[in-house]
Amino acid sequence: MSDRRQYRDARSVYRLGRSTFAVLLVATMVAACSGSSSPRSSSAPAEHRATATLRQLADRRHLLIGSAVADRPLRTEADYRRVLGREFNLVEPEDAMKWSTVHPARDTYDFTAGDRLVQFAEQHGMKVRGHNLVWEKFNPAWLTSLTPSRTEAIALLRDHITAVVSHYRGKIAQWDVVNEALAEGDRGSMRDGVWLRWIGPEYVPMAFRFAHDADPGAQLFYNDYDWRSPGPKTDHILELAQHIRDSGAPIDGIGLQLHVLHSLNVAAERSKLRAIANAGFDVAMTEVDNRRKLPAVTAALGDQARKFGDLLGMCLAIPRCRTFNLWGFTDRHSWIPGAFPGFGAGTIMDKGLRPKPAFFALRRALLSR
Ligand code: G3I
Repeated sequence: MSDRRQYRDARSVYRLGRSTFAVLLVATMVAACSGSSSPRSSSAPAEHRATATLRQLADRRHLLIGSAVADRPLRTEADYRRVLGREFNLVEPEDAMKWSTVHPARDTYDFTAGDRLVQFAEQHGMKVRGHNLVWEKFNPAWLTSLTPSRTEAIALLRDHITAVVSHYRGKIAQWDVVNEALAEGDRGSMRDGVWLRWIGPEYVPMAFRFAHDADPGAQLFYNDYDWRSPGPKTDHILELAQHIRDSGAPIDGIGLQLHVLHSLNVAAERSKLRAIANAGFDVAMTEVDNRRKLPAVTAALGDQARKFGDLLGMCLAIPRCRTFNLWGFTDRHSWIPGAFPGFGAGTIMDKGLRPKPAFFALRRALLSR
């Protein structure tokens, strides 16, 4: 086929836009279900092909699209690795960089699992979100059983952050520096825990300073959940980020987890996102999933697809939102059934890695203008 003909074909696919979507949808389903690892069509630019992946479409929109990655399937499942590298340009360790994993004893750091993910990302040309440096939950017993003075606690925090961030200096694009520092509920108070008790609320801006010192090139995020609009927690998240910045600490953005349960008021939520952006922060959607009562019926999966599509559409509408990360991409590996017995089906692919309606909703959002 001549170059001119190839170009014309590509242009006409592009122009057809939405009406072509049904054709794209069917072709993508066939390709995805066949498990092929690369698009077959050769005449059009990658992003216009019927088999374009989420990754190809996201690249075109300058969007980081990613998933939390569990270490065990990364080690042991070839199909998991293949789909991960094909569909995403971003990875985030689900547990591999948390205190319990990376700092299992006071004088021991273990970067094995984190290094494995970073190496996978490098081999596949992907970016990495680091998660997380400070969290009041799931800390190792050796840490929580200490009784340090405030000065000793600050040294513990500084040493941990410096060791972990320095180890990955230049290799991690974004860090969730502090995770879920706000308490459950809508009062805006700080979550109780060792860091609050040992250091006071200043542990939050301190953590950002330590992280910045160890890798000035990484983008630093405050990450939290229960984002919904209207809802006071939303305002408290923004207030805390502003407090971090006002205290002189370097913070680039806010991570909204979005383990979404509520119905989305798209206009209201979009204006809240704009408020974050207008306040000078980047927005990252960091842990998107939507759990359903099992077995998940067709209507539930349709509703789920709408939620995923709406969230990605909201993100794409805000120039400062250029990170969209799923908390797992397959129902084969998800925290949901373990944490909420009787619930599951919260991701975009089933246990056989076949795309669910939510996968196609993401494609549709990426293809729309
Ligand atoms: O490492 C042990 C392993 O040795 C043991 O054999 C196994 C037996 O259950 O447990 C393993 O630890 C588990 C760990 O995940 C690694 O799989 C913990 O019990 C389990 O509680 C832990 O759960 C993680 C949880 O955070 C707590 O760290 C989930 O995988 C992870 O999805 C979840 O992720 C959080 C985000 O970090 C923050 N936002 C909320 C999100 C969902 O809770």
